[in-house]
Order: sequence, then structure tokens, then C-alpha cells
Amino acid sequence: MERLCASSDVPEGEVFQVDLGDGRVLAVYRFEDAVFATDDLCSHGDASLADGEIEDGKIVCPYHLGSFCIKTGEPTGAPCSVPIKTYQVEEIDGEIMLIA
Ligand code: FES
Repeated sequence: MERLCASSDVPEGEVFQVDLGDGRVLAVYRFEDAVFATDDLCSHGDASLADGEIEDGKIVCPYHLGSFCIKTGEPTGAPCSVPIKTYQVEEIDGEIMLIA
């Protein structure tokens, strides 16, 4: 289990970038009072999804406005067609932890 950030770093409806320093950069989301994480890099291009906006459970990429489901990583809007990796995260004592 690895600490990603403080719970307060990710307000409801927001996305926060976490650089783990080992090549992994994650986007951490809070949506409908639950936390989620995906790879931060869009599968369509060199965009940080943490710079995007959450809309109806989807993260909308800031570059070409493609989107992904934040729960499953499945593409939900063109031009995105390749899923992004999702991670299991949990909130424990005010911290958001990476479980797997
Ligand atoms: Fe994300 Fe193109 S880089 S939609």
C-alpha cells in the first residue's frame, strides 16, 4: 500500500495529479464521495488528464476533448479509443492510498 496524497487534495468533483517519482503518474479523482485513480496520461496523446474536467463520471481530456470512464478507464468519447489503466485506491485516515 502506498500513499498517493491527502484526502483534502482531492475535493468532490476534482482531479489531482500524483507523480510517484518512479515513472508512474496518476490522476486521482473524487466523484460522488468515492475516490478513483487512473493513469494521468491520455491514451490519445501527450495530455495530462489531471488538467481535464470530470463530467458525469467521465474525465474529459483537455487536448481534444475525448473522454474516459474514471471507474473503468474505458474510452467514452472520440478521439479516445484505447482504455487507460485504473488503480484500486482507498481513503484511510485522511490519506488516499494506492491498494493495487
Ligand atoms: Fe487526449 Fe487527444 S490527447 S483526447
